[in-house]
Amino acid sequence: MDLVSVSDSDLRKIGLNDSPNHGREDLRQEIAKLYPGVSSEEVLVCTGTSEALYILFHLLLSNESTVALYMPSFQALYEVPSMLGAKIVPVPVSSKLSAEDWEHLHADLYILNHPHNPTGLDFEAREIPKLIELLKNKNKPVLFDEHYRFLDFKHPIGWTGVSPKDRFYGTGSFTKCFGVTGLRVGWLIADIETIKRARSFKDYLTHTVSPISEFLALHLLQKKDLLIPKIKTQVEKNIAYFQSRLPELSEIISIDKIFGGLVSFLKLKEGIRSEDYADLLFQKTGVFVLPGNNFEMEGYLRIGYGESNEKFKWGIDTWIQHSPLI
Ligand SMILES: Cc1ncc(COP(=O)(O)O)c(C=O)c1O
Repeated sequence: MDLVSVSDSDLRKIGLNDSPNHGREDLRQEIAKLYPGVSSEEVLVCTGTSEALYILFHLLLSNESTVALYMPSFQALYEVPSMLGAKIVPVPVSSKLSAEDWEHLHADLYILNHPHNPTGLDFEAREIPKLIELLKNKNKPVLFDEHYRFLDFKHPIGWTGVSPKDRFYGTGSFTKCFGVTGLRVGWLIADIETIKRARSFKDYLTHTVSPISEFLALHLLQKKDLLIPKIKTQVEKNIAYFQSRLPELSEIISIDKIFGGLVSFLKLKEGIRSEDYADLLFQKTGVFVLPGNNFEMEGYLRIGYGESNEKFKWGIDTWIQHSPLI
């Protein structure tokens, strides 16, 4: 609540009736400003990015669809399409994301998540126009899940591929990047017709987002230029600290270059099962990392950097004291 700095009397003014089903107008306008050429009518406020994904996948996919996306990937991006019967075309992530990865693929929906969860990778600036051109030529819908866009380490805010007129849809949120996940606010960006259909679908899910969450979300987004640099400094400090101590963790053999977001992928020494390692680490130290097998990738760990500098340092120091674990 310190981030928002709203007074008691501000809070008392919030009506507790239902918000509009597509989200309050001033919040939709604030979100639309993040996407060049997008209007507030092309924004649907949702209960987290997860709801936006769930709705869009239901509108676009059937059991005859194919979906191409980078693997490993945030689970909902392939689990929900799979649940709907869609066939997944995995695009393997190598040490960098490049337009070429998408060249010879054929699918009914292309999903790009950047900065990428779980690796922290993103496209280099020179790759982006090539990628957009290539995707336009496919003449199919594309989803840009830009959930970590507020934490791009080279730019004030990360690039966007969203363009509703081209059926380049977008999902996003600021809550993870700002460390306010309890607000459960996210959004879908799409053409007006798709937003209309998504609104009807949302009526059968959460129907509206809490007016308290919407109010706080609006205040936070309006202050983003002030907040983002502070958050980035904190996250980059954690990343630098981890990288400086990495040689002392003998079971970790490499780490991806981190372009943005709050996570990265660590390669474990040959023969170590990720779940065994993550469980043991948690039991012995209280330090929590996600095993790669949760992302269908054995031999890796996903580490998160979204902690206070003190707590993060404590976690890494404790991990090192117990290393080697296995
Ligand atoms: C890439 C990506 N997309 C979507 C989500 C879901 O976000 P939310 O918690 O806002 O539902 C996450 C959550 O971690 C994520 O990493």
